[in-house]
Amino acid sequence: MNVLDAILTRRNVKQFKPDPVPRDKVQEWLHAASFAPNHRMTQPWEILWIGPETRAQIPHKNNFGGAPTLLAVLSTPAHTSVDRDEHYAAVSCFLQNFMLAAHAEGVGTGWSSAGLSEKVRHILGVQPGYEVVGIIPVGYPEAEPAPKERAPIVTKIKDLP
Ligand SMILES: Cc1cc2nc3c(=O)[nH]c(=O)nc-3n(C[C@H](O)[C@H](O)[C@H](O)COP(=O)(O)O)c2cc1C
Repeated sequence: MNVLDAILTRRNVKQFKPDPVPRDKVQEWLHAASFAPNHRMTQPWEILWIGPETRAQIPHKNNFGGAPTLLAVLSTPAHTSVDRDEHYAAVSCFLQNFMLAAHAEGVGTGWSSAGLSEKVRHILGVQPGYEVVGIIPVGYPEAEPAPKERAPIVTKIKDLP
């Protein structure tokens, strides 16, 4: 699958098959993700591989669609708000890389904001200063969600003199 196809066909998957995804494959996609742009090579991402005991404590309406693998992706602490924003941006690039790499090999991902809650931060043992950018279920999709329509990009482009 070429990059453009991967970008255009990736979906936010909500329901997964129980079949496990080999850990070394997930690690391979995380490695690829780490080639994301990041200012001054801060590499501001950390990954929590969520095991069953921890997962059972996280409140979520459908247990992350039954995904066999669940990750939390964190952004590391920063001294200034600019650095904090840059870390968050870099981790978002990391996540997109990861999702595309998985998708290109037939594995779906989702993105949950559940890690924004203090309760979930506590369950995950997230230290002060870290941001939980996403909780990411990973697995073979049970169904491919339909594409969500986007606004024509020309409506988002402003020409400057
Ligand atoms: C920062 C961020 C937070 C998100 N949080 C959630 C979430 O909590 N629950 C959810 O169902 N989807 C979440 N999503 C996924 C979006 O809902 C999804 O990407 C969007 O509906 C477009 O669908 P698509 O990715 O399949 O094109 C999040 C996406 C981003 C970038």
